[in-house]
Amino acid sequence: MKNIILTGDRPTGKLHLGHYVGSLKNRVKMQNEGNYDKMYVMIADAQALTDNFDNPKKIRENITEVMLDYLSVGLDPNKVTFFVQSYVKELTELTFYLLNLVTLSRLERNPTVKSEIKSKNFETSLPTGFLIYPVSQTSDIILFDSNIVPVGEDQEPMLEQARELVRSFNSTYKEIFREPKAVIPENKVCRRLPGIDGNAKMSKSLDNCIYLSDSKEEVKKKVMSMFTDPGHIKITDPGKVEGNSVFTYLDAFCEDYHFEKYLPEYKNLDELKDHYRRGGLGDVKIKKFLNKVLEDFLVPVREKRAYYEKDISKLFKIMENGSKEASAYGKMKLEQVKDAMGINYFDDNNLISELQIKYDQK
Ligand code: TRP
Repeated sequence: MKNIILTGDRPTGKLHLGHYVGSLKNRVKMQNEGNYDKMYVMIADAQALTDNFDNPKKIRENITEVMLDYLSVGLDPNKVTFFVQSYVKELTELTFYLLNLVTLSRLERNPTVKSEIKSKNFETSLPTGFLIYPVSQTSDIILFDSNIVPVGEDQEPMLEQARELVRSFNSTYKEIFREPKAVIPENKVCRRLPGIDGNAKMSKSLDNCIYLSDSKEEVKKKVMSMFTDPGHIKITDPGKVEGNSVFTYLDAFCEDYHFEKYLPEYKNLDELKDHYRRGGLGDVKIKKFLNKVLEDFLVPVREKRAYYEKDISKLFKIMENGSKEASAYGKMKLEQVKDAMGINYFDDNNLISELQIKYDQK
């Protein structure tokens, strides 16, 4: 059985370090390991409209930002098919059929959607398109026969929904879809990177993000202002490592070689943590170290970004070609869908003769 990877993001803003460790890093790794037959990365503009229907301009602008973020972290247009969701019309058509296989109460139970409804103040006026986006997300995955979906931890309920819909479609009509699986980071710290303010999540609306596109100066300023341990006032005070954003980021980004390179008096992160816990290690020192570790990662990211920024028409060509390719696959798969459901009236050669026999026998 072929391995087909598919994933994507809503183009509602620039991607940040939380996106990187939570999902992008896994995608790049999978791409480079090459253990797949096809890899798609989709820009989910139609899904982004489900809660930004009044601001299409924002989506339009961020398609380019997200594409630049993808390429800058090392996703390779020679290995990955990038496409734009709204271009593939078959996705909408499949969604319309899948909607018959799910109840309203099932959609209302989705924990990710539930918490989004709260945070977006949709409690009193919920747009229907928003409530059903997990069904549309199922189409995104299964229209391409994808079985592997590298995503952030918060997307697990979407995959659960997708598997249920696959089972329902296959048993109601015909076995043509397979059940997809999410791939989330092994390193627990990476699943949800806190904000620089110590808030549990990096999020644009909380203004606590370090973006992949931030300049050297911006990153430094953010790191130096980062939340640590409020009880660690004097350098000699013992400090807390748990819940301390600097250490959480180090857990996510730093490797032993960073110590050799930038902080040779410690062998590894455990030694640094021990010193901090004992007291005698200042916040400025650990922040400066984190800044260097992050810059090690970000310098090549900025270089790749600058390269692609010089040729936006090339960027659009990549998306356009990928969208055409995805659309061709979608068209083929939708024929299977209609055949499975028996609604392929004009492509079914047997239908007319069967009907003729039936009416002749009257
Ligand atoms: N819901 C995802 C997000 O908010 C984006 C997305 C849309 C997606 N369709 C997908 C992710 C299909 C994986 C597979 O980031």
